[in-house]
Amino acid sequence: MSQRYYIVGNWKMNGMRAALSEARAIDRAAQRLPKVEVALAPPVTLIAAMRESLNGIGVGAQNCHHAEKGAHTGDLAASMLREGGADFVIVGHSERRADHNETNEMVKAKAEAAQGVDMGVILCVGESEAERDSGEAEEIVARQLAASLPDNAQRLSVAYEPIWAIGTGRVPQTGDVAKMHRRLREVLVEKYGDEEGAEVRILYGGSVKGENAAELLAVPEVGGALVGGASLTADGFVPIVVAAS
Ligand code: G3P
Repeated sequence: MSQRYYIVGNWKMNGMRAALSEARAIDRAAQRLPKVEVALAPPVTLIAAMRESLNGIGVGAQNCHHAEKGAHTGDLAASMLREGGADFVIVGHSERRADHNETNEMVKAKAEAAQGVDMGVILCVGESEAERDSGEAEEIVARQLAASLPDNAQRLSVAYEPIWAIGTGRVPQTGDVAKMHRRLREVLVEKYGDEEGAEVRILYGGSVKGENAAELLAVPEVGGALVGGASLTADGFVPIVVAAS
């Protein structure tokens, strides 16, 4: 199992060129904290500029199409993102599942498309508030993960993001995070076997901040964090990276 925490900033639909100074400040800080693997997933428009100006951290995309090429106006193939400077792709984020009706099957196909051009994959899963309240969250998310997983675990990470915790300032109890991550590990081991299933990092995402990062990262089976709002500035993101170091 990899010892380094993986701390990834998902900028979502935020960031113009002026924000590159924040990315550079994050990059400089990350170079002083080599025990942590750090990456940013900016909007596509900033990927190339980040790739050119950052030295120490990974740069990725927030989505890709599952096809290699073709008549898909406005979409981008994994190979295009890779050529443009992205080293990994986030797939299956709840905002894409909701806004673009992405199904588990589509998420699996996107993950496999990214792996096919040797990109890393961060595959997101998570329950709604109603699903959490039903008392069945672990089983619901386990099924979602099992149906979304690519056929092999090459360069794969999973991000558990409870939808009700995204951008709300609410975070689950650490005991609930532990239970969920343990269940997701079982799904990974069942799919890929003991060794490869244990290697896949499971990140936690949803209102991670400098103030709660250490507590969340200390939960067993939490291998890093996928961070939205707090990743937009060095002031917000660097304390999370420090907590992981
Ligand atoms: O992908 C990260 C995200 O959904 C969490 O967002 O703003 O709650 O950290 P945020």
